[in-house]
Amino acid sequence: MKVGIIGGTGGMGKGFALRWAINNQVIVGSRDAGRASEAAEEYSKIANESFGNIKGSITGTDNVTVAKQSDVLILSIPYENIDAVCSEILPQVSDNCVVVSPIVPMTKTDVGFECVAIKENKPFSYKLVSNHMKNKSKIVSAFHVISEKKLINPTLELDYDIFVCGDDKDSVAIVNTLIDEIKGLRSIYLGPLELSYLAEMSTPLLLNAMIQNKIKNPGIKII
Ligand SMILES: NC(=O)c1ccc[n+]([C@@H]2O[C@H](COP(=O)([O-])OP(=O)(O)OC[C@H]3O[C@@H](n4cnc5c(N)ncnc54)[C@H](OP(=O)(O)O)[C@@H]3O)[C@@H](O)[C@H]2O)c1
Repeated sequence: MKVGIIGGTGGMGKGFALRWAINNQVIVGSRDAGRASEAAEEYSKIANESFGNIKGSITGTDNVTVAKQSDVLILSIPYENIDAVCSEILPQVSDNCVVVSPIVPMTKTDVGFECVAIKENKPFSYKLVSNHMKNKSKIVSAFHVISEKKLINPTLELDYDIFVCGDDKDSVAIVNTLIDEIKGLRSIYLGPLELSYLAEMSTPLLLNAMIQNKIKNPGIKII
């Protein structure tokens, strides 16, 4: 599969690229094509050193080209930039492209980590993304509760659940395949896209629990 990562030069993008290059053609995206190529070169080296000879590949180019080429497109960008980035790239995706939002509307305040959408009465990420999609059934929300620190460390053993929301069974199945490819992650389907706000809110919950209780490497696992 061709997996494009918009904002792939960030921490999450690096983690996704390392993990999915084992089996897929990963395309790292950036506003700056040069930065994307440099990141792709660095990630390829790490992936090959960490996992041996990978079956896939990691290349890099500008966000718009990535959007045009991808079978699955991960929006690994900050909440504040959703409109600016998505208005440019989402009209370019193919009709069958599955668009994945791991975006968390979160801010740090005096009391701890808070959900911007609730605190400032703003739209949740999935709503903002869906405004720019031709085919809204192709959006899947996932990966809100796995931290970049875990994804970028190939030797760290993972045992976590990933909440998934989406309307189209086939699109959810494709995202589940990507989750399964990361050893130690399990997909937990929450329901239709409309319930994505529950997944988006779980990140500040997790981070406050971590800080207040001095828990290292927190994650969510349903038992
Ligand atoms: N970090 C985590 O552990 C974690 C965990 C779960 C979910 N998430 C979510 O995953 C997403 C990515 O997280 P991250 O920590 O990787 O984010 P990040 O490092 O802050 O940003 C990712 C990339 O977004 C691009 N970007 C930054 N400012 C931009 C702007 N003004 N306009 C357009 N693009 C911009 C940058 O790429 P270029 O400058 O190269 O274009 C940057 O490398 C976020 O929505 C976050 O809420 C993060």
